[in-house]
Amino acid sequence: MFVQLRFQPAPAAPEDAFQLLLDCHGRIRDFSQLALRLARDVESPPRERSEAARRLERYFTEALPRHVADEDLSLAPRLLRAGLSPRGLEALHEMSRQHVDIERLLARLLPTWNALATAPELGPELAAELRQDSMRLAALLESHLLLEEQALLPEARSLLSPEDARAVRAEMRARRAPKAEPRGDEGGR
Ligand SMILES: [Fe+2]
Ligand SMILES: [Fe+2]
Repeated sequence: MFVQLRFQPAPAAPEDAFQLLLDCHGRIRDFSQLALRLARDVESPPRERSEAARRLERYFTEALPRHVADEDLSLAPRLLRAGLSPRGLEALHEMSRQHVDIERLLARLLPTWNALATAPELGPELAAELRQDSMRLAALLESHLLLEEQALLPEARSLLSPEDARAVRAEMRARRAPKAEPRGDEGGR
């Protein structure tokens, strides 16, 4: 049952940049599993398949790019300035290369999810491609998350100054802050 998938809310505390990144990894794994379930499912009602495809499209269009920006734009430059070990440096470069690979694969999957969301009856027609791409995505994401969790984040946690870690957290929050609606008398400012 795709639509009944419920995610655990992020813990209120303790909350630091590294915990927030790991919380994101949990959600990435949840959606990766949802993609696999959708690809393998042949029996759920069309409305459920459609909703699952829409949620996947939304998550990988909106949320994942924010996490990639957290790592490439907020974390990476501070780690480079702080002086990573050669192993950490290699992991950082590999992380960014993998972000590009994941983005390329998503460029194939997003239109398929969009098509399924709009017309779930296309399922049988899209099944082979969807299954192959979803399995590739799950494998790519899992090896990517493990690289970060094992070869990068532990060193990053001990290397970054508290000020830098707070700055990363502030930038992460700013990316997720609701955009303020312009008020009538401020609209043009
Ligand atoms: Fe990443
Ligand atoms: Fe990550």
